[in-house]
Amino acid sequence: MTYTREKADEMRLRIDYNNMMKKYVGEYGISDAELSALSGKAAKAHKAMEEKRVNGKMDWRNLPYNQEEIVKEIKDYAEQMKDKVEAFVVLGIGGSALGPICVQQAINHPFYNELPREKRNGYPKLYVADNVDPERLSCLFEVINPEDCLFNCVSKSGSTSETMSQFMIIKEMLEEKLGKEKAAEHIVCTTDKEKGNLIKIAAEEGYKTFIIPSGVGGRFSELTPVGLLPAAMCGIDIELMLQGAAYMDELSKEEDFYKNPAYMFALLSYIAMEQGKNISVMMPYADSLKYVSDWFAQLWAESLGKKVDNSGNVVNSGQTPVKSLGVTDQHSQVQLYTEGPFDKMIILLGVDKFRRTMTIPKIYGDIPSLGFLGGVTQNKLIATEQMATEYALQKAGKANMTITLPEVNEFTVGELLYMLEVATGFAGELLNIDAFDQPGVEEGKNATYAMFGRPGYEEKKAELDSKPEKSEKYIIR
Ligand code: PA5
Repeated sequence: MTYTREKADEMRLRIDYNNMMKKYVGEYGISDAELSALSGKAAKAHKAMEEKRVNGKMDWRNLPYNQEEIVKEIKDYAEQMKDKVEAFVVLGIGGSALGPICVQQAINHPFYNELPREKRNGYPKLYVADNVDPERLSCLFEVINPEDCLFNCVSKSGSTSETMSQFMIIKEMLEEKLGKEKAAEHIVCTTDKEKGNLIKIAAEEGYKTFIIPSGVGGRFSELTPVGLLPAAMCGIDIELMLQGAAYMDELSKEEDFYKNPAYMFALLSYIAMEQGKNISVMMPYADSLKYVSDWFAQLWAESLGKKVDNSGNVVNSGQTPVKSLGVTDQHSQVQLYTEGPFDKMIILLGVDKFRRTMTIPKIYGDIPSLGFLGGVTQNKLIATEQMATEYALQKAGKANMTITLPEVNEFTVGELLYMLEVATGFAGELLNIDAFDQPGVEEGKNATYAMFGRPGYEEKKAELDSKPEKSEKYIIR
């Protein structure tokens, strides 16, 4: 489906940042003067964003436009495979798993896998095996039959131990049951065109393969085959998602940050960090958007959490993302958000129009503490509770903003994810750090390889062996 311009405008996201401002939250807010004082820095950051885009250092920004062929290939493949399998299982982690989970949860039925096949429009179930917890993977085999599944091994680097370990288990299991040739029909790989082991294995074994464009990093890869293939395999309109991203790209090209939602999001977050608000809570008021917070947590944390800036100075930058859910967490974390320290900003995600309506029956009219609910919809209840939380935060002087999606659909999810990606890139420029590397993640990956004695990691092994021995004094048994 393609939206007309009119329909696209109707689906445009709104960012309401009134409650980030001093005028509304007082002392701990941001003044108009503080915001406009950043115009020089913002102009420089904008220029850097434009240059990086032109110089191929932000290839993820071209994804809404340059994938016509690959989208067709994905759609054809999904149509060809969907009837052949009961379930599509993603083997991936981090940027190779969080996007598919987030989009599937946002767009599809919340109990998608439990629906009978005809209610899934004939599409297979979707599972994402993103951890190496042995209980989880082993238990997955109690609910799926591997011979009836298509396994999508996703790894940009093509060598991540967690993902490759899952792949190795499944490959052997399939080959034992089906033989090598038939087993290959149950595996599809998504990886870099040359880096790592996976592309080589895929070529040798004859696995169908989709390529992750080389200039797109893991956490920015949802709009590549990493996210598009799993989405298409469960009936999600990937073209509409890309159209939403393209629509947001137009808005995010604007230099004037008062008109650019992504830049404004980044600037407000940047000032908040400068003020010592080291925590960014994302709190969707819709179950469908719950995993947007998970996806954003990786994007924001891994991109902005850096030891050194672009000049090599130690800066230890970043803002800790916290995942929360409205209204559920009103009954758990909101107490802290309203009355705790002024160390956080809160991003509420709201939805104007839910896809379903639930009306509370008009019963217990004679009990005043219940009667007021009678005849009210849960739609109204959740929206009212969101406004109530916003009010409570504002009254307590706690900085917060609200991003509203007119509806949750492929277009608006495309807009939202893309807006947060641009905001992350722009925040990286404001912080003068490299938002696209992840030396901290690599460190952990390399330490794992060294501990397993992987060739080439001898130096790292020696480094690990020389770390101080743990003392019994600090262990309670
Ligand atoms: O953003 C990143 O680069 C990482 O978080 C990766 O997505 C994650 O480590 C998985 O890597 P890969 O896709 O190479 O297996």
